[in-house]
Amino acid sequence: MRSLIDILDLTTEEIDALIEKAKDIMLRPDAYREKCRYKKLATLFFEPSTRTRLSFEAAMLELGGSVLGFSEAASSSSAKGESVSDTVKIVSGYADIIAMRHFKEGAPLVASMKSDVPVINAGDGGHNHPTQTLADLLTIKREKGSLNDLTIGLCGDLKFGRTVHSLIAAMSRYKGIKFTLISPDELKLPSYVKNTYITLKNIPCTETNSLEEVMSNLDILYMTRVQKERFFNEEDYLRLKDSYILTPDKLKNAKKELSILHPLPRVNEISTEVDSDPRASYFRQAKNGKYIRMALIMMLLGVE
Ligand code: CP
Repeated sequence: MRSLIDILDLTTEEIDALIEKAKDIMLRPDAYREKCRYKKLATLFFEPSTRTRLSFEAAMLELGGSVLGFSEAASSSSAKGESVSDTVKIVSGYADIIAMRHFKEGAPLVASMKSDVPVINAGDGGHNHPTQTLADLLTIKREKGSLNDLTIGLCGDLKFGRTVHSLIAAMSRYKGIKFTLISPDELKLPSYVKNTYITLKNIPCTETNSLEEVMSNLDILYMTRVQKERFFNEEDYLRLKDSYILTPDKLKNAKKELSILHPLPRVNEISTEVDSDPRASYFRQAKNGKYIRMALIMMLLGVE
């Protein structure tokens, strides 16, 4: 039995296979309608979510399975003090696979050690978000044709943005990758992520506060929201929240083939005027999330 806690739990060959499977599901959805008949997915969400929870649920429903779960900690017995370990032990008796989001870093890992069924990390605090990364990789592959030879700009809250941490870990395994890290000083990439996946692997990397300065070099621009829920005081959040706002004007020096990604939700960091630009890939990215999660559920359940 296998869980997905960290994106590096998957080899690059397995990620390639998931991407190909997701593309096939898009082409031939009817071939997959019964693949998970009589299987149940439990979604245990201790933090808010729109895309991740609903795309997991849509994924299982489109595979012919069923879903159960909760969307906030307050409606589960964790509100009465039940531990994550006990919750997951119980739920693994009711479902065949579990997707868990938790505000505490490492909670899905603990859950996977207690569970009798596969556990998928659907986001743990400011740590990791591997299934968002699968959606990101599918999007990059579809938009750019390759996961190699790309200059990737990551902009915004690189400190608390768990999607950034997982994406850097994943992309650091491909050839010809260069990273450009764009953030205020207070929201720089944590040193453990930078050291492990960039410095020790000798991956070319630039750090800057200025998006405008680097825009023309980028193949991918990965915008992120400043993560209000991870701040200890509101004053800091208010000061930093609008550090970067992408507008059509700021894109005037960007490559014609740029892909603009964002894990969403956005607050102010991408103007809605950018949405009609063909380079805006973020709504396609959110849709891709459903197909790659269908492929992942089948893989972890051993469904062919
Ligand atoms: N990208 C993402 O995790 O979105 P949600 O918080 O809506 O699930």
